[in-house]
Amino acid sequence: MAFGVYVHIPYCIQRCTYCDFATYEQSKILPPDQYVELLFKEIRQKHQYYKPQSLDTIYFGGGTPSLIPAPLIVAIIKELGSYGYTTRPDTEITIEINPATINEEKLKIYLDHGVNRFSVGAQTFDDRLLKMVNREHNAKQTLETLDLLRAHNLNFSFDILFALPSQTVEGLKNDVKIAIEQGAKHISPYCLTVPDGHPLSKGRPIDDEQVEMFDIIADELTAKGFKQYEISNFAISGYESRHNLLYWVDEPYWGLGLSAHSYTKESAWGTRYWNINSIGEYQKQILAFEGQQFTSPALHLPSAQYEALEMHQALTDFCHTSMRLMRGLNVEQLAQKFPVHVSEKVQSLLKGLEQKAWVQHDNGHWSLTRDGLVLSNKVFQELTFLEGEI
Ligand SMILES: C[S@@+](CC[C@H](N)C(=O)[O-])C[C@H]1O[C@@H](n2cnc3c(N)ncnc32)[C@H](O)[C@@H]1O
Ligand code: SF4
Repeated sequence: MAFGVYVHIPYCIQRCTYCDFATYEQSKILPPDQYVELLFKEIRQKHQYYKPQSLDTIYFGGGTPSLIPAPLIVAIIKELGSYGYTTRPDTEITIEINPATINEEKLKIYLDHGVNRFSVGAQTFDDRLLKMVNREHNAKQTLETLDLLRAHNLNFSFDILFALPSQTVEGLKNDVKIAIEQGAKHISPYCLTVPDGHPLSKGRPIDDEQVEMFDIIADELTAKGFKQYEISNFAISGYESRHNLLYWVDEPYWGLGLSAHSYTKESAWGTRYWNINSIGEYQKQILAFEGQQFTSPALHLPSAQYEALEMHQALTDFCHTSMRLMRGLNVEQLAQKFPVHVSEKVQSLLKGLEQKAWVQHDNGHWSLTRDGLVLSNKVFQELTFLEGEI
C-alpha cells in the first residue's frame, strides 16, 4: 500500500483576493520556526498510532512553502525520517513555490535533500489580471523563476487560473502557450471559484464560456502531448502527480499542519481526520496533546475532527475519487472492496448514466465521457449514497 504525507505551510506574502485556503499573511502568524515546532509535536503525537514506513510521497503545500527558510523544509523531512517515515531515492517530494520566492541558494538546499518536484503558482502571465487578484508577482518574475528551474533541468508543474473577470479566450490561449513553451510537464488548470457576491464574481465569463475555456486548454495541451489524467490535471506521460493520485486511488495519507486532512485504513471502511483551520486553535490543540499517549486518532481528536466512515460514505468517496480520474472506476476494485449487492447497485446506476452518455464502460473501467466531464457535478450527485440507501 502506498503512503504519503501532506504538510501544510500557511504563509503568504499577501492574500490573493480569491483564496479561501487556511493561510495567513506572514506578518500575521507566528514565526515559521515556531510553526515547524508545532509540526514536530504533531508528528510525535501521530506516530503513536501509525506504524513507521517509508514514504512514497511528501507534498509541501500552502500557502507558500517556498516563503519559509529552506532549512525548515529540510528539518521537516528529517523529523519524519527520525520517526521511521523515511524517504527513498524514488520518493516524490513536491514543494509549491510562488514566483519570486525562490533563488539559487534555496533551490540548492531543496535539491540536496531530495525535493524533486516543483509546483509553480503561475496562474496567468497577464500582469493586469495578476494585479487584479492581488498576486504579489508579475509575469516577468514567473519567467525568471522558471529560468532557474529549467537551468537545473527540474520537473515542474504549473497551476493556471481561468475564467477570471475580463479574461479573454485569446489571453487564456496565450497563458497555455507560454506554459507549454516554458517546459512544464504537468499543468493544473483551475476554474476560478468564488461565492456569489464576491468582488471577483462580477464580469466573469458565463458558464458556457467557462466550458469553452476549459476545452481550449484541453485541446491545446492534448495537441502538445499532454494527457488529461484527472478532471483538472494534465501531464506528459510519466509526470502525473503521484501524491495527488494517492487521494484518488483510495490510498492512505497523513496531513500535517493547519487544516490538513488525513485518511487511514484503521477502521472497517477507513478513517478521516483533520486539523482545525485557525492557527490559534491549532496551536492550542497541539500543545494540549503534548505528552499524552494515544493509540488511535479516535482517542486523540475531538469528534468534530474525526470520522470513522460508514459503508455508504466509503462508497461515495470511492465513486467520486475514482470517477475524477480519466481511467475511471475499476470494477474489480469496487467488487473487492464492497459487498456484491453494493457493487451491483453502483454498476446499475452507471448503466443508467451510460444511457445519458455521461459515462462509458471500457476494459473493466467506468469513466466520464466528454459530456460527463462538463456535467461531472451531476454524475457525482448520482453517485452519492446516503445512510440506509445501500
Ligand atoms: C492554495 S494555492 C497554493 C499555491 C500557491 N500559494 C499559489 O497560490 O500559487 C493552490 C492553487 O489553488 C488554486 N486556487 C486557490 N483559490 C482558488 C479559487 N478560489 N478558485 C480556483 N482556484 C483556486 C490556485 O490556482 C493555486 O495555485
Ligand atoms: S499565494 Fe496561494 S495560498 Fe497564498 S493567498 Fe494566494 S492563492 Fe492563497
